Amino acid sequence: MSLRHVAKPVGVRLAGVGMAVPPRCATNDDLSKIVDTSDEWIRPRTGIKQRHLSDEGLKTSDLAAQAVTMALEDAGISPNDLDLLFCATMTPDMVCPATACQVVAKIGAVPCGAMDINMACTGFVGALNMASNAIASGMYKNVAVIGADQLSTIVNWEDRRTCVLFGDAAGAAVLTASDNANQGCLYQRIWSDASKADALYIPRDEKDLPANIDATNTDEPGWNGQYDKLQMDGRTVFKFAVNALKSCVQTALQETGLTPDDIAMVIPHQSNIRMLQTAWKKLGFDDDKIYINIDRFGNTSAASIGLCLYELKQQKRLHEGDKVIFVAQGGGLTWGVSAWEL
Ligand code: ACO
Repeated sequence: MSLRHVAKPVGVRLAGVGMAVPPRCATNDDLSKIVDTSDEWIRPRTGIKQRHLSDEGLKTSDLAAQAVTMALEDAGISPNDLDLLFCATMTPDMVCPATACQVVAKIGAVPCGAMDINMACTGFVGALNMASNAIASGMYKNVAVIGADQLSTIVNWEDRRTCVLFGDAAGAAVLTASDNANQGCLYQRIWSDASKADALYIPRDEKDLPANIDATNTDEPGWNGQYDKLQMDGRTVFKFAVNALKSCVQTALQETGLTPDDIAMVIPHQSNIRMLQTAWKKLGFDDDKIYINIDRFGNTSAASIGLCLYELKQQKRLHEGDKVIFVAQGGGLTWGVSAWEL
């Protein structure tokens, strides 16, 4: 059932946004010194020109704390007034404590409630949905959503099929209760299908390899020979992501009764320019209604939608009353959507 059928006690306002990237920026030419690749190969296939990469010692929680501090300042909300913080990440500092708890301590928001969400690249949308529900329930007033990932720490730097695609970053949003009950999430949904998890996964050892993978053949799609590193079957992911993006946006339109003309902007996870363009053509939206910044950051997993939000606000392209759709797909496999009136 769509959430629009449920009485909404309070509205939810997107009060502040922030972002952080590590200082080191690597161009495609820089990567061509590490693996056998080139700007000519990477750019047309992925849209990526450069990405920011973490140096030793920088943690996911450091980037996340920087981004959410900026978002709190933007919202004019003190860390002490934060009630709940979600951190979407697949590269936590450690398994326990959650990165979200580390962030709460780093920004001086103790004893704010905190939890991590692991939905890979879909994490920001998942966290946004949970944060919206927490406020709309009337139980929490100020809730932070962070997407933070350091994919550079979990790619195999000898595998050119994967290492060129990703970058490190954190994006954050602070949501707050609003008296305007029309403001906030109009429709939301997340989905998963682990029967197709082999397209994008991180095996710990041989037991985690799919049955069809020969551990000695590292040229196979979906296996590059290193455990605890990201494995990807690029073509399968491509098809999945295009279909998921398209169906997420179509479902949000159907459930809200909105048309592409009503939507000010679609803010998608920055997966790969060709995937975004292929889905976009099928959806039939105007080109200027999709935000793209993968050229400067690469695929930053859970962080990417937060980076887009920050840049859109900086460019004054988001206005109160605008209807926007957040959409993402990633490992799990997971996919999700969130349609908002800002
Ligand atoms: N540089 C140079 N050559 C490369 C590179 C590289 N970085 N990577 C692969 N190649 C080579 C391959 O070795 C292969 O060479 P061969 O023909 O001699 O064997 C050739 O390029 C073609 O390789 P394919 O894997 O078949 O290339 P494909 O056309 O499928 O494109 C790509 C690969 C760009 C990864 C594509 O599959 C894709 O876009 N997939 C989506 C993956 C993605 O973006 N994932 C992001 C994470 S998921 C998410 O965010 C939802």
